Amino acid sequence: MLHLCSEDYISQKGFSIFAYQIIAMARILTGVQATGVPHLGNLLGAVLPAIELSKKKENETFLFIANMHSLAAVKDAEKIREASYSVAATWLACGFDTESNVFYRQSDVPEVTELTWYLNCFTPFPMLQQAHSFKDKAGRVEKVNAGLFTYPVLMAADILLYDANIVPVGKDQKQHLEITRDIAGSINHLYQKELFVLPEAQIDEKVMIVPGTDGQKMSKSYGNFINIFLEDKPLRKNVMKIITDSTPLEEPKDPDICNVYNLYKLVADENQIAEMRSNYQNGGYGYGHAKQALYEQLIRRFKDVREGYWSYMNVKAELDRALAIGAEKAREVASKTLDRARATFGF
Ligand code: ADP
Ligand code: TRP
Repeated sequence: MLHLCSEDYISQKGFSIFAYQIIAMARILTGVQATGVPHLGNLLGAVLPAIELSKKKENETFLFIANMHSLAAVKDAEKIREASYSVAATWLACGFDTESNVFYRQSDVPEVTELTWYLNCFTPFPMLQQAHSFKDKAGRVEKVNAGLFTYPVLMAADILLYDANIVPVGKDQKQHLEITRDIAGSINHLYQKELFVLPEAQIDEKVMIVPGTDGQKMSKSYGNFINIFLEDKPLRKNVMKIITDSTPLEEPKDPDICNVYNLYKLVADENQIAEMRSNYQNGGYGYGHAKQALYEQLIRRFKDVREGYWSYMNVKAELDRALAIGAEKAREVASKTLDRARATFGF
C-alpha cells in the first residue's frame, strides 16, 4: 500500500488535490466535537462527505471524536461522555467501516497533547488572536479560557499527527486548516525538512453552510439545529420551528429566501426540489406544507441512519470495543510521527 507520508512527499510547494490522483492512496481525516448529538449540519457538512471519501478503496480514513476540544466549552463529564458515544454512534450508523479504517476517541491517543505543545511553540500569538472562531466564541462566553484560544493548535496536532492529506470539513473550519498548514509549513521551512504533511481542506460547495431553523448557520451553540435522531413527533416539532415570513398561504413565495426550501434542497432529489420550487412560485402552498414535506423527506432519507444510531446507543459496549481497536491503530501511526518530531526538535 502506497501512502503519501512525509518521506514520500516530494515537494510541498504546488502540492494539490491533483497529486492524490497520481499517488495511490490518500489519508482522509476528520473529527467532530463531542458537545451534543450531531445535527443535520454536522451530518451533511462533515460526517457524510467523510464517509463517502472513506468508501473509495484507495483511501484510508481516520475519523475521530474530538472530545478533548469539547472540554474548552463543556465542564460536565457525563455530558462529554454521552456526547462522545453519540458522535461515535453517528459515524457507525452512517456506514463507516471501522475494519479497513481508523475510528477513535481523541483522548485515547495522548500523543496528541505532546504534539500540541510542540506546535504551540511555533504558533504566532497574533495568528490565534485573529482566528474567527475564537473571536466568535470569546464574544459569546462569560469566561474565556486558554483552551479556547489554543483550540486551533490542538486541531493542527490532530491532523499533523496522522500525516493526513485531505480533511473534509464545513466552511467554518477553513481557517483552522489554513492555520494548520501555516504551522506545519513554517516548521518544515525552519528545520529544512518535510517533517509534516501539509493537509488540504475539502469543503463541499453544496452543503458548505447548512442553515439552521433561524436561517443562520446551523450550530449546537446557536440552538437552531435539527436533530434527526429525535423520535418522529419531536422531530416534526423541531422542523415546524423553522422560521418563515408571514406571506399568506394563497400567495406565491420566493423559495430562495425560505429556510425550509433551502434545507429541503439539501436532502431531496432533483425532481422533488423542482416540485417544491414550483409549488412556492404558484401560490396556494403554505409554509406548513413545505415543512411537512421536509419532515417526511428527513424520515425517508435518514431511516437507516436513525435506526442504526439508536441500536448503537443501546449497546455502548460495542462502541467501546470498536473505539479501543481504533485507538490502538491510531497510536501506532501517532507514535511514529512523534518520534520524528522529537528527534527534529532536539529531544
Ligand atoms: P457546531 O457548530 O454545531 O458546534 P461542530 O463545530 O462540532 O458543530 O462541527 C462539526 C463538523 O460539522 C465540522 O466539520 C463543521 O464544519 C461541520 N458543520 C457544523 N455545522 C455545520 C453547518 N451548519 N453546515 C455545514 N457544516 C457544518
Ligand atoms: N474543530 C472541529 C469542529 O469544531 C473538530 C475537529 C477537531 C476537527 N479536530 C479536528 C475537524 C481535526 C477536522 C480535523 O468541527
